[in-house]
Amino acid sequence: MRIDILTVLPQLLEGPLKESILKRAAEKELVEIHIHNIRDFSTHSNKNVDDYQYGGGAGMVIAPQPLSDCIESLTKDRTYDEIIYMTPDGKVLDQRDCNEMSLLGNLMIICGHYKGIDHRIREMYVTREISIGSYVLTGGELAAAVTVDAIVRLIPGVINDETSALTDSFQDGLLAPPVYTRPAEFKGHKVPDVLLSGDQKKIDAWREEQALKITKEKRPDLLED
Ligand code: ADE
Repeated sequence: MRIDILTVLPQLLEGPLKESILKRAAEKELVEIHIHNIRDFSTHSNKNVDDYQYGGGAGMVIAPQPLSDCIESLTKDRTYDEIIYMTPDGKVLDQRDCNEMSLLGNLMIICGHYKGIDHRIREMYVTREISIGSYVLTGGELAAAVTVDAIVRLIPGVINDETSALTDSFQDGLLAPPVYTRPAEFKGHKVPDVLLSGDQKKIDAWREEQALKITKEKRPDLLED
């Protein structure tokens, strides 16, 4: 998978995307992430990327020219399965969206900043709008990092094949059961006996039962669909 991210603040993405699982995924050549600074495409003498809003109002808007030039410099070389805009008014991201996008080849993600991007860019190029929750961040960068992490970990081989949520379909839509590691007793608190029984059938049944119980308690909405 190839992911191109367009931003006015590349340094906000470099940390989260160049470490841990995403770093290993890149090393294994399972994903290629390219970060593009929208400012590099500005034709302004001072490399301005934002401007005042038509109609007045607080906050600057990212102008169409540098964004359009950046997008078109990428689309001339390859076709994108999705051109995504990170925005609080997009569809709230869920696991199903991540599963779907993890199967794609080329993704482009546009991060807004200030008051957002000129609306014509959304109309002209964007195929999917994503929010990571009903709150407003200062920009789309952290939302893009969250989205990329959630997608890339699903690519087979990134974590490892057995734990891929795509092959683990009975878990789909349920919260995970509790997990424990050694010691079997810690400050008087014991690991459930079943996990020490060595009976894999019983363990699987217990995990399924726990997943259902926890989902009913904490996120009953997940059981509705
Ligand atoms: N940009 C600002 N807030 C956002 C959010 N909640 N989700 C996605 N992008 C955003």
